[in-house]
Amino acid sequence: MAIVAKTTVSLIKADIGGWPGHSTVHPELMKIASQELEKAVKSDLIMDFHVTHVGDDLELIMTHTKGEGNERIHKLAWDTFIKGAKKAKEMKLYGAGQDLLADAFSGNIKGMGPGCAEFEFTERPSEPVVAFMMDKTEPGAFNLPIYRMFADPFNTPGLVIDPAAHAGFIFEIWDIQEDKAVFLNAPEETYDILALIGAKSRYVIKRVFPKEGGKLPTDEAVAVVSTDKLFHIAGKYVGKDDPVALVRAQSGLPALGEILEPFAFPHLVSGWMRGSHNGPLMPVGIKDARCTRFDGPPRVGALGFQVANAMLGMPSDLFDDPAYEPARKKAGEIADYMRRHGPFEPHRLPMEDMEYTTIPEILKNLDSRFKKV
Ligand code: F6R
Ligand code: MG
Ligand code: MG
Repeated sequence: MAIVAKTTVSLIKADIGGWPGHSTVHPELMKIASQELEKAVKSDLIMDFHVTHVGDDLELIMTHTKGEGNERIHKLAWDTFIKGAKKAKEMKLYGAGQDLLADAFSGNIKGMGPGCAEFEFTERPSEPVVAFMMDKTEPGAFNLPIYRMFADPFNTPGLVIDPAAHAGFIFEIWDIQEDKAVFLNAPEETYDILALIGAKSRYVIKRVFPKEGGKLPTDEAVAVVSTDKLFHIAGKYVGKDDPVALVRAQSGLPALGEILEPFAFPHLVSGWMRGSHNGPLMPVGIKDARCTRFDGPPRVGALGFQVANAMLGMPSDLFDDPAYEPARKKAGEIADYMRRHGPFEPHRLPMEDMEYTTIPEILKNLDSRFKKV
């Protein structure tokens, strides 16, 4: 096995057609994606890959040595989605090609519709990496779990008792409305971090970095979240920008179990039916990653890899586990409770967020009937 200087993991995803409706991905599209990525391995463009889906999102998990934002890697993902979308159109799958918003590839997949989380790092002697994939929600849905992994000692005892994690971590937070970013330190600035990321439709955690003096290079991210906001790109509502994230684990970072623990609490996220409702995030194995009830509830899948010399190896389906059964049951109860509100807030999103859905068209018709009071 070749020893590599630095490894890049790229997780690029798109909804290129649902089967049926917006529930899941047809096996035929997964097959096309696997064939395309297999060819890319043979031509030495990528080292290894795993194709999967969560809900109606096709997920390409790839390893290579070409760094972040590499044009050839992004083009590979784009061309793979285009090929899949062609098949999806032939099969009349639902919303075929829905996330492919650009007419032609323009150097980087960011801003073209698909979502992307990728990081480049120097492999440690052993390198556990988890790919988290969510459907029917938005990037801010990662704020709570990522915060808890890297900044909450009630979730991550390593922050208290592991000297290598004790200094804390640096959070890169993006304001996705004004397109600016800020770096904040945990634990010193946790109240500031929370002041921002509690507003999860606007401020999203983009990356987490180690601090000086630890075991890890401070310029290599240990967690990264996709922050591509579809409605900002498209200018009108075209479906939620279902997010993905990559997180490295162990040896000075949160342990695998500390990374998975936040998902034992099915917190409320925005998205679900018509991208317009708050609902619980249900952690599921990939076999259960089908959005059915009320087009949901929003789901999160997690695949774990032991990355070795830029090879992914076999995935372990981390939420396909009875330990997450209580969280799924709780999510079911919360779904019942939220659903009983019907079209009322806070089940339905507040008016500002509904701006990005189709409701303005309905309300426009009432404009002329409003009289001054
Ligand atoms: C949510 C989602 C679905 C659709 C809903 C209506 O992100 O994808 O809940 O919004 O099924 O879809 P259309 O308007 O395509 O019939
Ligand atoms: Mg869809
Ligand atoms: Mg989706």
